[in-house]
Amino acid sequence: QQKRRRYLKREKGVAMKSYNVCIVGGGSTYTLGFLKSFVRLREEFPLKKLVLFDIDAERQEPIGKYGEILFRERFPELDLSYTTDIKEAYEGMDFVFMQMRAGGLPMRAKDEHIPLSMGMIGQETCGAGGMAYGLRSCVDMIKAVHDIRNYAPDAWILNYSNPAAIVAEALRREFPDDKRILNICDQPENVVRSCSRLLGCNWEDLDPVYFGLNHYGWFTHIYDAHTGEDLLPKIRETIAKNGFLPQDAEQRDQSWLDTYGMVQTIMSDFPDYLPNTYDQYYLYPDYKVQHLNPNFTRADEVMAGREKRVFSECAEVIKEGKLGDRFHAISDAHAEMMIKVAEAIAYNKNSRHILIVENNGAIANMQDDAMVEVVCELGINGPRPMRVGNIPQFYLGLLVNQVSSEKLIVDAYYEHSYEKALQAFTLNRLVGDAKKARKVLDALIEANKGMWPELK
Ligand code: NAD
Ligand code: G6P
Ligand code: MN
Repeated sequence: QQKRRRYLKREKGVAMKSYNVCIVGGGSTYTLGFLKSFVRLREEFPLKKLVLFDIDAERQEPIGKYGEILFRERFPELDLSYTTDIKEAYEGMDFVFMQMRAGGLPMRAKDEHIPLSMGMIGQETCGAGGMAYGLRSCVDMIKAVHDIRNYAPDAWILNYSNPAAIVAEALRREFPDDKRILNICDQPENVVRSCSRLLGCNWEDLDPVYFGLNHYGWFTHIYDAHTGEDLLPKIRETIAKNGFLPQDAEQRDQSWLDTYGMVQTIMSDFPDYLPNTYDQYYLYPDYKVQHLNPNFTRADEVMAGREKRVFSECAEVIKEGKLGDRFHAISDAHAEMMIKVAEAIAYNKNSRHILIVENNGAIANMQDDAMVEVVCELGINGPRPMRVGNIPQFYLGLLVNQVSSEKLIVDAYYEHSYEKALQAFTLNRLVGDAKKARKVLDALIEANKGMWPELK
């Protein structure tokens, strides 16, 4: 009621509420993008207080100091702090943005290297590596959300810590009645933005229809939001001729350009829909294994690239004591997307976002308790998923297989069950064989000692 009144006040141009936000994983390579975006979007989403929280004080400190300098220059009334104390972090928060990486980038490297060294896809969120990361994230995310709820029972928790599919399933089970936890991925929107580059239009003028699981989905239509024309045929034709590039191609590493390039291959084999870029791993696992370097994976590329750039930018700004011309340096579509999600809730906008929600009929021929990714209208009472009806057998087969694997890995977490983990690994298309599953699972158990529940 109070929030509704505040919203109405805003509409009449009277005082606008400003919000308290905590970022969990303050030391993330994405935090600088958030800090800059909070400045850029301060009219749309006004902040009163921003707290960065991390378990690694040393990693977070330069980001916090960078924030102090940035806000002193451009947003002096904002109350910024950074901490490793959960009470300080969570008390009084309206929104908690979660971007932790359980085990950090060095463990991501192991998730990618170990399966690849055995001839299987090694990837951050897909296949054996994704399930390894999933078990670590179940442990750390469930603890963190309990901590948040202790100090901020009503805060909106916007989670995009990965692997979002497995995290979403774990949070669904751990907090069944909690209506203020949302799981979000930026990749569907990234694909829509890339379509806008290809069509030469504004991405917000595109109105997509999408179904799938996180990192495993398809666009069935991309409508022109004004005329209602379905632009998918035109997109299909253009991709067949010219290939596909990310919206921010100029700032991407080669591996991302290769990933977007695979969309052309996928659409020539399966022309029905426009795929999420992650579908490449499930559709061409052998090809991808042959083209990935087991000694230098994406994690290595991130540590040598983005991570270094972020922390050297911090070091320079701290040394100079000013931001200089760095304000526009980094594109932050990611942060802007997450802030728009918070804005939709704060101002009850009922705007459309692609979110991870409990199915309950959104995909008619999939089980109700699957965590699926679909277009939702989002407002103060949470997401309202838009139905896509029955999906064709091919897509259904792929997704039922994957959702089973995801559910079994969460079973393994709760039951401390080796057998369930072995089932999850065996079922996963990127492992697909029980002997291979046992071998990679055993190696990952060894690598994740102390970070996984002990599987018996
Ligand atoms: P990163 O390792 O640079 O940052 C993660 C931070 O989390 C680190 O500072 C680390 O110390 C901290 N952390 C780890 N465990 C924590 C815990 N239990 N509590 C609080 N903080 C903790 O990683 P990154 O590359 O910046 O990515 C951050 C996260 O965002 C990852 O989970 C990544 O997969 C995710 N991400 C998700 C999407 C999406 O589409 N959902 C998009 C981009 C990034
Ligand atoms: C996309 C996905 C995220 C994933 C990220 C990896 O944004 O939606 O879920 O974490 O890519 O990107 P990176 O540059 O770290 O490989
Ligand atoms: Mn994602």
